Amino acid sequence: MQRRAFLKTAAGAGLGAVAASRSAFAADAEIVLTPGTPGPVISPHIYGHFIEHLGGVIYDGIWVGRDSKIPNVGGIRKRFVDDMKRIAAPNLRWPGGCFADGYHWRDGIGPAAERPRTYNFWEPRMPKGVHATETNRFGIHEFMHLCRLVGAEPYVAANVGSSTPKEFHDWVAYCNAPRGTLSLADERAAHGAEEPFAIRYWGVGNESWGCGGDMKAGEYATEYRKFVTQFPMYTQPYLVATGPRGHSADRDLGWTEGFFEGMQGGHRSRVDGFALHYYTDFRQTPEDGAKFDAKGWYAVLHKGVRMQEVIEDHWRVMGQYDPEHHTKLVIDEWGNWYRGGTELGPAYLLSQTITLRDALHAAMTFDIFNRNAEKIEMANVAQTINCLHSLFAAVENQYTRTPAYYTFEMYRAHMGARLIPMEVKVPELTVPILDGSAKLAGISGSASIRDRRLSVTLTNPSLDAAVTAGIRLAGGGRVAEGRGTVLTHEDMTARNTFDDPDNVTLAELSVQIRGDAAHVTIPKQAVVALELQVS
Ligand code: AHR
Repeated sequence: MQRRAFLKTAAGAGLGAVAASRSAFAADAEIVLTPGTPGPVISPHIYGHFIEHLGGVIYDGIWVGRDSKIPNVGGIRKRFVDDMKRIAAPNLRWPGGCFADGYHWRDGIGPAAERPRTYNFWEPRMPKGVHATETNRFGIHEFMHLCRLVGAEPYVAANVGSSTPKEFHDWVAYCNAPRGTLSLADERAAHGAEEPFAIRYWGVGNESWGCGGDMKAGEYATEYRKFVTQFPMYTQPYLVATGPRGHSADRDLGWTEGFFEGMQGGHRSRVDGFALHYYTDFRQTPEDGAKFDAKGWYAVLHKGVRMQEVIEDHWRVMGQYDPEHHTKLVIDEWGNWYRGGTELGPAYLLSQTITLRDALHAAMTFDIFNRNAEKIEMANVAQTINCLHSLFAAVENQYTRTPAYYTFEMYRAHMGARLIPMEVKVPELTVPILDGSAKLAGISGSASIRDRRLSVTLTNPSLDAAVTAGIRLAGGGRVAEGRGTVLTHEDMTARNTFDDPDNVTLAELSVQIRGDAAHVTIPKQAVVALELQVS
């Protein structure tokens, strides 16, 4: 890997390159922040979550049952609740994923023992002899209980693929109508929820081009219109349409064009959000979650930052139909997806080992989300526990945070803060990837401001060398004091296990104020988060 001595020009608002000049800081990287011209607010929902009835995500991961010996709050794993509160998890998307378009909400209400056992989309993939039938023990009431415990806003994905507008509208009314108005509202109250759930975010299907009904974009647009036109307006909704498979070779721009083309006759149909899925997809390669070399490390980070182009491309197409961009992006599935083989156990479908590499990938993805804050209403990692890019692993009474969890903790300060322009001057890296070599920014970063406190996140993807960085403010202010945290490990494949849950964890990072600038050393293969006070 070589550092090439030319400027990095980052795409997207808020991160640009400064003119090449003599180093003002005697540092490898020169970073200039402009707090005087703040950009958009970074929606807290960018740091959102996704949980599905899939393998060990809901059952065992989250729902352990009220009678379990595992510490729980009304059946929900307590450690999970505590950690989700710690990162201020802003939302939870549920019940799928592919499961959503086979889910019938009535199966999940009423006394648990009387709930039916039903087919789960993922059942055929479960190992032989393992009973994967859906027990419906976790339904809308349990989901809302979880949301309230965590303080997260619910985002419910409705069934379009095997359901009807009536079933959807009844679910919305059951959730949102005040008691004493509709019979459905009284039924909800009889099941223990007197007050409406007031659910705002509704996904109208999931991956309708695939497991959600195998539709063409125009066909889905027709369904979408039917599903939303008579939407029961008890709570002002935020309606999310199924968007593209952004990780396709062609980025699936045809879906975005076809959908919005199909909506042109639907003038009464609102589309508040458009769900883009982008997996850093290595399923068809030998790339493994646990064992990899430098090529694998860089290949994953390099493919991850394609997120920027995917956002730009779809945003451009959306703008052709909606020049004022009323419709925002909802990136409700993102994360790394390896070929498989590192599952927590045969029944823990799609679970995989999460390492330091995944933590850096998440950081670089969040920097992209922050820098595109004006385009993105929400994003949801796939999936929060016991799945692809998970923050937690849990098997029965064993539990650990993964390295990716710490990225969420480090980025918490950006939630709801204002994006500020960041200029970075740093040599670009030329790195090996699976099939040749590629260019990677020497540093990924983003910055935000709240009151007079700046939050700066920086990632050094290099496996070879630390980077010293000098950070100063444009426009007159100066950094008065600062503190930092760092996430790194000498082993790039480092992970946390049930026996060694603190192998990868946060440490303090020294921030030195010299003159009007803050100076830090970002170790190799590391993410740092800085809090800087402006005077
Ligand atoms: O996150 C796993 C699966 O990936 C989801 O169920 C589906 O929407 C996507 O294809």
